[in-house]
Formats: sequence, structure tokens, C-alpha cells
Amino acid sequence: MMRKLAFVVGGGASAALAAFLVLGRPAPTTAQQSGPAAADSVQAPVLAAGDTAALRGPRQPIFFRHDIHAGQYKIQCQYCHYSANVSAEPGIPTAQTCMGCHLVVGGRDSTHRAEIKKLRDAWNKKEPIEWVRVHYLARHAHFPHQRHIKALGPNACATCHGDVQRMPQVFKVNNVNNMGFCISCHVERKVSRDCTVCHY
Ligand code: HEC
Ligand code: HEC
Ligand code: HEC
Ligand code: HEC
Ligand code: HEC
Repeated sequence: MMRKLAFVVGGGASAALAAFLVLGRPAPTTAQQSGPAAADSVQAPVLAAGDTAALRGPRQPIFFRHDIHAGQYKIQCQYCHYSANVSAEPGIPTAQTCMGCHLVVGGRDSTHRAEIKKLRDAWNKKEPIEWVRVHYLARHAHFPHQRHIKALGPNACATCHGDVQRMPQVFKVNNVNNMGFCISCHVERKVSRDCTVCHY
């Protein structure tokens, strides 16, 4: 079974963990059982932190895996990138968001436990995690996430970022620093191409 989770949930179980337990509930086995449909999630491959150098994309301070969180466990993108539909910046979750689950979830093997320990140490020391940015526009260009999510839908992330839920380490699928990437879609969708829309 892909998800055998035996949590001992005390009285202090957070909303995040409660939400996760709903997400992580095993698929109903009989038709009369109600509840969410069986998740068609895929088992993420087993990788060690030492494998990160061979993966595409910059190496991060903690080997945080989208294929495990967003893929295998189906946590919604906007659970962590909380402001994608309301702000230009999609938002990067703070350690507090992570700890909503990782106060309890310690990891099933030594690799996971070692990486989760880095998160817990940062949290205990109140040190921010210095994630390495993957997509980064020059300062003269402006990209509003919220406008795009409203027009293209909440699942449009993959249009620009690719199949993130299968990525053990995030890498750039499209060259967002090439103006042609923006313009070709704006032409197709009959959106403004005025220089001042994107440039300050
Ligand atoms: C459990 C929290 C969490 C979930 C769920 C999550 N992310 Fe992330 N995401 C992060 C963190 C933390 C980073 C920064 C570290 C990294 O790049 O891996 C990040 C980084 C990214 C980046 C790279 C940002 C940059 O620097 O350019 C993209 C793109 C991204 N996420 C897209 C997605 C998409 C699409 C989904 C849903 C399929 C998703 N994320 C789900 C936490 C999450
Ligand atoms: C909704 C619950 C939830 C949230 C929120 C969450 N995680 Fe996890 N995380 C899990 C589960 C479940 C596992 C799988 C544990 C295992 O099998 O070892 C996991 C595994 C991990 C692992 C080990 C596997 C891997 O990804 O390398 C790390 C490290 C980790 N999480 C870091 C983070 C960080 C950093 C954040 C915040 C950006 C975060 N998690 C947010 C539930 C969550
Ligand atoms: C139309 C293309 C497009 C779509 C759709 C899109 N993004 Fe982005 N994303 C970008 C670009 C371009 C950047 C770099 C922006 C910058 O540097 O100002 C970026 C940056 C990011 C970052 C890094 C932000 C940071 O502060 O480090 C994250 C995380 C991210 N996107 C997540 C998402 C998620 C989640 C979705 C879906 C809800 C999404 N994006 C949809 C183009 C897109
Ligand atoms: C996949 C298609 C697609 C891509 C790729 C794309 N855009 Fe857009 N963009 C749109 C759509 C659709 C809208 C219209 C949103 C609306 O009507 O509010 C839009 C609107 C905008 C706006 C607001 C325009 C206004 O009238 O105020 C800006 C700014 C913008 N995009 C910048 C960018 C930049 C910069 C990039 C490249 C990094 C980019 N877009 C890539 C589809 C795209
Ligand atoms: C839909 C958004 C968008 C529009 C409209 C747009 N640009 Fe750009 N432009 C960009 C992005 C994104 C970049 C790449 C920024 C980076 O390097 O990260 C860029 C880069 C540039 C550069 C730097 C050189 C290069 O090619 O990378 C120049 C000069 C430029 N744009 C001029 C213009 C002019 C002039 C117009 C109007 C005719 C225009 N742009 C319209 C998004 C746009």
C-alpha cells in the first residue's frame, strides 16, 4: 500500500495535520463508503539527499520533495503557495506551515528523518530556511501571478512550471526569462502586449 500512516494524534493535532489526514485517508474499498474519491497519486521514487546533485534544478538547503508532498500525498499547490490567486507573488510557505504536519510526521526512513530534522532544527532556532530561487525575472519585468491564475485557472501552474508534482527537485521547464515565452501566449490569447504592461 502506498500510504500506511499510523499517526498517534494527540489533543494538540493541528488543523494542517487534520486536513492532511483527510487527504491521506486510504481509498474506500467498497462502493457504499462515502468520502473523497481514491487519489490517483503515484509513489515517489526512493532517493537520498546525496542524489540531489544528479537531479535537475538547484540544490536546496533541505531536500524538500514536491513529488512526495504534491504528488504522492496530493497536498494542493495553494496550501503552500497561499497567495497565488490574490497577489503577484505566489508565496513560499514558512516553517510554521511545514511544522503543522512535521511536529508529528518525523519520516519513515533515515533519509527522510535526517531532512525533516533540518526543518525542525531551523524551526527550533527560529532560523529562516534560505530556499534557492528557481524562477527569477530581471527587475525591469513584472509578472502578476493572480491575473494569470484568474484567467487560466487554479491548475494552470503546470502551463508555465511543468509537472511539478513529479519533481523530486524543482527545475525550470520554460525559460521565463525569454520575453518570447510571455509574448507568444499573449498573442494567442489576445492579451495586451504594450511594453508598459510588463516593464516598469
Ligand atoms: C508542502 C508545501 C508545498 C506544496 C504542497 C507545494 N509547494 Fe511548491 N514549493 C514549496 C517550497 C518550500 C518551495 C521552495 C523550495 C523548492 O524550490 O523546492 C517551493 C518551490 C516551488 C517552485 C519553485 C519556485 C522558484 O523558486 O522559482 C515552484 C514552481 C513550485 N513550488 C510550484 C508548486 C506547484 C505547481 C505545486 C502543486 C503541484 C506546489 N508547488 C506545491 C512548498 C510547496
Ligand atoms: C500536510 C502535511 C505536510 C506539510 C504541510 C508538509 N509536509 Fe513534509 N511530509 C509530509 C509527509 C506525510 C511526508 C512523508 C513522510 C515519510 O514518508 O517519510 C513528508 C516528508 C517530508 C520530508 C522527507 C521527504 C522529502 O520530502 O525529502 C521532508 C524533508 C519534508 N517533508 C519537509 C517539509 C517542509 C520543508 C515543509 C514545508 C515547506 C513540509 N514538509 C510540509 C507531510 C507534510
Ligand atoms: C503564466 C506563467 C505562470 C503561471 C501560470 C504560474 N507561474 Fe509561477 N512563476 C512564473 C514566473 C514568470 C515566475 C518568476 C516571477 C518573478 O521573478 O517575478 C514565477 C515564480 C513562481 C514562484 C517563485 C516565487 C518566489 O517568491 O520565490 C513560485 C513558488 C511559483 N511561481 C508558483 C506557482 C504556482 C503554485 C502556480 C499555480 C497556482 C504558478 N506559479 C503559476 C510564471 C507562472
Ligand atoms: C500561458 C499563457 C500566458 C503566459 C505564458 C504569460 N501570460 Fe501574461 N497573461 C495571460 C493572460 C490570459 C492574461 C490576461 C489576464 C486578465 O485578463 O486579467 C495575462 C495578463 C498579463 C498581465 C496583465 C496585463 C494587463 O492588462 O494588466 C501581465 C503584466 C502579464 N500577463 C505578464 C506576463 C509575463 C511577464 C509573462 C512571462 C514571464 C507572461 N505574462 C506569460 C496569459 C499568459
Ligand atoms: C508580456 C510581457 C512583456 C511584454 C508585453 C514586453 N516584454 Fe520585454 N521582456 C519581458 C520579459 C519577461 C523579459 C525578460 C526579463 C528577464 O531577463 O528576466 C523581457 C526582456 C526585455 C528586454 C531585455 C532584453 C531581452 O530581450 O531579454 C528588452 C529590451 C525588452 N524586454 C523590451 C520590450 C519592449 C520594447 C516591449 C514592447 C514592444 C516589451 N519588451 C514588451 C516581458 C515583456
